[in-house]
Amino acid sequence: MGARAHGSTGKVHFGGLDEVSLYGTPVEAAPPPGPPDPKSSFLKNQLQALFQPTDNKLAMKLFGSKKALMKERIRQKAAGHWVIHPCSSFRFYWDLCMLLLLVANLIILPVAISFFNDDLSTRWIAFNCLSDTIFLIDIVVNFRTGIMQQDNSEQVILDPKLIAKHYLRTWFFLDLISSIPLDYIFLIFNQDFSESFQILHAGRALRILRLAKLLSLVRLLRLSRLVRYVSQWEEVYISPLYQPRCAELAPDGTPHYPDKDRVSQFLNMASVFMRIFNLICMMLLIGHWSGCLQFLVPMLQGFPSNSWVAINELQEAFWLEQYSWALFKAMSHMLCIGYGRFPPQSLTDMWLTMLSMISGATCYALFLGHATNLIQSLDSSRRQYREKVKQVEEYMAYRKLPREMRQRITEYFEHRYQGKFFDEELILGELSEKLREDVINYNCRSLVASVPFFANADSNFVSDVVTKLRYEVFQPGDIIIKEGTIGSKMYFIQEGIVDIVMANGEVATSLSDGSYFGEICLLTNARRVASVRAETYCNLFSLSVDHFNAVLDQYPLMRRTMESVAAERLNKIGKNPNLVAHRSEEDAGSINAVVVALAAEAEHASRSPDRGPPSLGLALRPLQAAAFLGQRLPRPKSDNNVSADHDPQPLARGFFHKSDAAFPQ
Ligand code: CMP
Repeated sequence: MGARAHGSTGKVHFGGLDEVSLYGTPVEAAPPPGPPDPKSSFLKNQLQALFQPTDNKLAMKLFGSKKALMKERIRQKAAGHWVIHPCSSFRFYWDLCMLLLLVANLIILPVAISFFNDDLSTRWIAFNCLSDTIFLIDIVVNFRTGIMQQDNSEQVILDPKLIAKHYLRTWFFLDLISSIPLDYIFLIFNQDFSESFQILHAGRALRILRLAKLLSLVRLLRLSRLVRYVSQWEEVYISPLYQPRCAELAPDGTPHYPDKDRVSQFLNMASVFMRIFNLICMMLLIGHWSGCLQFLVPMLQGFPSNSWVAINELQEAFWLEQYSWALFKAMSHMLCIGYGRFPPQSLTDMWLTMLSMISGATCYALFLGHATNLIQSLDSSRRQYREKVKQVEEYMAYRKLPREMRQRITEYFEHRYQGKFFDEELILGELSEKLREDVINYNCRSLVASVPFFANADSNFVSDVVTKLRYEVFQPGDIIIKEGTIGSKMYFIQEGIVDIVMANGEVATSLSDGSYFGEICLLTNARRVASVRAETYCNLFSLSVDHFNAVLDQYPLMRRTMESVAAERLNKIGKNPNLVAHRSEEDAGSINAVVVALAAEAEHASRSPDRGPPSLGLALRPLQAAAFLGQRLPRPKSDNNVSADHDPQPLARGFFHKSDAAFPQ
């Protein structure tokens, strides 16, 4: 703090508290008191304001915030010179005008040079003088425009000396050559030209005119400016939209686009089409130039009888007819589909044809490559999915898997990825911790709403749990848990029905959306008390034993709630509920409240869909009164639970682990 800079109009302070706005934004100090010169200072201020960076898209991209922009304004003022900031309104409108003038020049110049002979008509001279003057002014403007550095985008060079050095080293020479009216200078320096011109067709005059024509072609080097402007504008106005934005992912892993995202998707598409449109325009421009060249060369040769113009008898035709045939010829070369009306007959024609074929075909190939790339990047997740499926198909064929298994694998893929493949772990891993948590919480909102255990829990607890969940899909008939094995995770059902199967094969009960299972083993540190089989396609979220214990250690009340439910479940399948009963009297009230809520939710869920018998609802009622005031059992140790569960679907975890791990931990 305390840095001071003295601009040409007055002092600018980064100084003490009184000079800083409430938000810490540096404020400009009032100009020093002195004899006011209202008119000149008003004009000066207006001009300087025009040269200052405004909060347009380019400035926001460069500086990121209004505060940084304000600082940049102060820095520019402090520089004290008449320097135009690259993010200023003046530069924006100047560039826009230059772009229009450039396009007009690059289209009109070749036509005028090739098809019109009135090189010395006042209209043509006026047009050339005007545009040359504007392009020369552009050079002056460029000398006074700050430079954005590629490697250090935050620092714009505002020192006129450095700007000049940079410009002289880069584009100055090309800009100068393309702006100087070399043709007119050449004509002026040919002193005897005007006398020769009296005899219009005198050989020397004609030669001089043709040379002047060739010199006027140097103006076409202005194309370099067009390329610069277009790429700069593309970078600022198209790139940010074009960068593939990741759709939010629903808990089931499918992408989800809220309204705002739909708009940005549309803009994304629009930007891709804008790029393709740019490419098409560039190709048409090259075709246009090539067409003009096709006519210019025979014209400069005086239309020899074996030239294509003479063969087509176009020497005296209207310019539009001449242009149309020339363009047709150029396009035929470009698209590699012929030579126009007749193949080349003269040596010059043949070389010209070759030249336009090589340049045209190269451009065409570049265009096709770019367009394919752009179109492909439109839907990369779908493309990735197709690639993955193709690979799996090849793998299945390579391993000669039985037809039925192939069918199941294909169905699994369809259900699990729904046509789009995301490296979700990578995407979420690139976000900040807070953002990652927010996205995961948002993705799991429907799960949290449907699981009564979560719906009534502390929001911090919910957040802690959901950030550690892993998305898994099981197919009908899959054994998710096998009785007697050691468990390493529990599951929350997002969608689907599972059967709790006893050792004798009897189905004790079924659980559906919003329920959870596999918790008893983690609570008791014993073996699985029953088997769990998927009845339908099941979208589950699993929680590993380590995370389970880590979270429940912080929320003992939730552990006891889970224990109450577990005890009731054990009771129902005829096993000893005291295996898990574990609480003190003072907890009983709060646990009761959660259990009542769970019961109410479960009962409500059991009434609505035909999802099979309710699991908890009615079963929990007797629990409310009893509330298990049993003796305390030792806390299960997480490290005793590390051995792997029976895993019915190795494919789901082993091979496609990347998008499988719905939430990186
Ligand atoms: P766990 O023993 O880890 O693995 C089998 C799971 O089946 C068990 O945890 C419980 O989550 C679940 N389970 C057992 N009995 C019932 C029941 N009566 N009602 C609902 N779920 C049960």
